[in-house]
Amino acid sequence: MRLKNCHNFKDFRKLAESRLPGPIFNYIDGGADDEVTYRNNTSCFDKCDLIPNVLRGVESVDMSVTVMGQKLDLPVYCSPTALQRLFHHKGERAVAAASEKYGTMFGVSSLGTVAMEEIREKHKNPQVFQFYFHKDRGLNRAMLERAKAAGVEVLMLTVDSITGGNRERDLRTGFSIPMQLTLGGMMQFAMKPMWGINYVTHEKFRLPQLESHVDMSGGATSIGRYFTEMLDPTMNWDDVAELAEFWDGEFCLKGIMSGADAKLAADAGCTGVILSNHGGRQLDGSSTAFNQLTEVVEAAGDRLDVMMDGGVQRGTQVLKALSLGAKAVGLGRYYLFPLAAAGQAGVERALGQMRAEIERDMKLMGVTSLDQLTRSNLRFR
Ligand code: LAC
Repeated sequence: MRLKNCHNFKDFRKLAESRLPGPIFNYIDGGADDEVTYRNNTSCFDKCDLIPNVLRGVESVDMSVTVMGQKLDLPVYCSPTALQRLFHHKGERAVAAASEKYGTMFGVSSLGTVAMEEIREKHKNPQVFQFYFHKDRGLNRAMLERAKAAGVEVLMLTVDSITGGNRERDLRTGFSIPMQLTLGGMMQFAMKPMWGINYVTHEKFRLPQLESHVDMSGGATSIGRYFTEMLDPTMNWDDVAELAEFWDGEFCLKGIMSGADAKLAADAGCTGVILSNHGGRQLDGSSTAFNQLTEVVEAAGDRLDVMMDGGVQRGTQVLKALSLGAKAVGLGRYYLFPLAAAGQAGVERALGQMRAEIERDMKLMGVTSLDQLTRSNLRFR
């Protein structure tokens, strides 16, 4: 399998699997518990069908959207994800460069492996800082101030990770930072020596958003333990209102699933919400973002920018989400497998395919701009 043979999400996933040590592939690929929500995220799009309109004159189509005050050339963006340099030594640098090339937004995570300042300086496209609310209030304030000073455009507070999800694949392999592998996990690393050579011959793995504030030397931290021990489970709507006021700019909550919560987000001063179940990695059995879109758009779509993520692998799925009122759609594994498979070239190829699909699908749907898509373009079976 080579990059030039990758034509869709499944191909990239396969190529990534062949390159990555098992514990890392399974960290990206896995979900919580029985992975029911993870699977539904993609399959729920198949429960409704697109209704095209024809003979509309679609020689050229405009794929741009404005969301969270940012003009994007595409209605998709690269969601913030953790630990990217573990997947490919270029990590966030590759994702930022590829998304700049396609004129879209990307995120740097609290658990990112390149400093948000470095990336902000190097690229012109809009950048999101994904923020976790830590028990240490001083740390929270310092992180927000850093992001402001760096010129990050959008703050994205993740609200679906108040405690760690039960990721059994990681339990089996021993995936954690630094690695504390089980014997089986270690053997899987030994089977992918090229990954190991790349890892040790490039810049040391770091967590620059956290390391000046948190002592990471005290042993292994699994993602579950980070969530459970360092994040503040008392976080509530008053904290959100305070953060929104302090940030004083585009501020969205990632992980909203109900109309009632979307209304509270608007009341608290948020400018956007992202419907998300964290890629099925937190609450298994949770509904899907796509299934909850109508409820959230009806509740607060006039007061907030509504976005969604989870399970999106195709341009048609993006058009379905936009038909229900989403302003933009976040991609996660969709660009992470290409990153792992081939670095920046992989992410560029995947974003290029997404752009080509959206353009083709818009023409086939008979729309020349994305705001022409409405509920009447969809039928639920
Ligand atoms: C995860 C977090 C870190 O899902 O976003 O692993």
